[in-house]
Amino acid sequence: MLHSGTKFPTRVAIKRIIPISSGKGGVGKTTFAINFSLALSRHGRTVLVDLDTGTSAIRNAIDVPIEKDLYHFFRKGEPINRCVSYLSKKLDPKGAFRDFGFVAGPLHLIDEITNFGAANKAKLIEAINGLDADYVILDMRAGLDSNVIDFLPFSNSGILIFTPHLPSATLAASDIVKAILFRKLRLIFSRESPFYATVSGQFDFWRLINELIDQVEDVYDSSVANLDAFADDLAGNLGDHPIARTVQQTLEEFRVHYVLNLFNGVDDSFQTAVKPFIENLTSNVSARCGVTNLGWIMRSDAIHRANCNKTPALLLPPEEKKISRNDRVAQELDELRSMAIGIDQPRRKNAKQTKAAATADPADHLANQLNVLRTMFEQKKDDDFHANFEYASQRALFTMKTRRTSEFGDVRIYRPDEMLATIFAKSNIPTTIDWGELEL
Ligand SMILES: Nc1ncnc2c1ncn2[C@@H]1O[C@H](COP(=O)(O)OP(=O)(O)O)[C@@H](O)[C@H]1O
Ligand SMILES: [Mg+2]
Repeated sequence: MLHSGTKFPTRVAIKRIIPISSGKGGVGKTTFAINFSLALSRHGRTVLVDLDTGTSAIRNAIDVPIEKDLYHFFRKGEPINRCVSYLSKKLDPKGAFRDFGFVAGPLHLIDEITNFGAANKAKLIEAINGLDADYVILDMRAGLDSNVIDFLPFSNSGILIFTPHLPSATLAASDIVKAILFRKLRLIFSRESPFYATVSGQFDFWRLINELIDQVEDVYDSSVANLDAFADDLAGNLGDHPIARTVQQTLEEFRVHYVLNLFNGVDDSFQTAVKPFIENLTSNVSARCGVTNLGWIMRSDAIHRANCNKTPALLLPPEEKKISRNDRVAQELDELRSMAIGIDQPRRKNAKQTKAAATADPADHLANQLNVLRTMFEQKKDDDFHANFEYASQRALFTMKTRRTSEFGDVRIYRPDEMLATIFAKSNIPTTIDWGELEL
């Protein structure tokens, strides 16, 4: 007997969408996505969508009958809200997770669903935007092609998963940030951009900027180190100009959120995962964007066994605890509110501070992340994996509550034209501009 049938009330909530990505496979994205979604579902209707459509990973990790999946959505014209599967009584006897549902990838590898073209991608994006849920979690595939990037938000990273056990995945995670930021910059400086229309006749300027972006993106070209240098170049040439400000804002308002999986203690995780991530991010992408740790998941044989048994770990009975779960959650929420551990305060900068940020010291980022990890570890070293997932979900909920939607948990997946319109509207750019003499 499934829990479905009690779903889809008519109320329309503001939905929040959180992609889980890693750049590389095998770091625990799917494991995290499933258990994090289960934890979130205690706080609102949560639907997990399998976007790693070639691997059937989610349906292989949750032992319930699946009546409809993405095959039915793409091939049979089923609305996505009817392709949601729910836990059975066998897995969730008390109905504690009745607000958790998932959209499974197809049973077999179907090329047009695995490597969907532009039309199918647009159709799926629109459907996800229309999913009836409070929280939508996207289990992304590995890689950085447009079938991954186009589902990511444009002002934050979603949740990046990396692990001390796979250092190359750590670097791939910072490449995701880079890819998101470059997608946004390329949009701003595309010929279709409304920014371009405001500088008509400035073709050379536009071409030069695009060449500059190429140089920054090319890791083998060291002439322009990273996006901070690019933003400084632009500001140096344009002065306090709406386009220069838009680029600066793009970097300063970008938020990176990460979770460490297969956590093995603060120092090891810091040295082998966090440090290389921040170093790569600051030197190749930008030192200006904010980085927030949303917790860690310990390495646990029980988690792995649970995956193999097709029963998500969070559905297993919790181990004996010293303090009851409710007390602990209440205590953690208090801690979060009073200390805002690891959550940078919203940055409203005046001109002077913005200049200071231009020379942001990557070492600050590192010291901050180490302190955050140490503080959390002091408080949480005895936690089991249930508490780890609970904590990550509490952090995510807290972040969604206290920060702008653009910073975490976007309300929709934006199409490129919507993205541009949003950026342009925010830039307050006048329709005609006197560019004066430009030298780039
Ligand atoms: N915290 C963990 N403890 C133990 N094993 C884990 C943990 N997280 C993931 N695994 C195991 O690692 C493997 C890869 O996990 P998976 O979630 O499929 O990664 P991805 O989706 O990134 O490819 C699986 O065998 C899974 O059971
Ligand atoms: Mg996976």
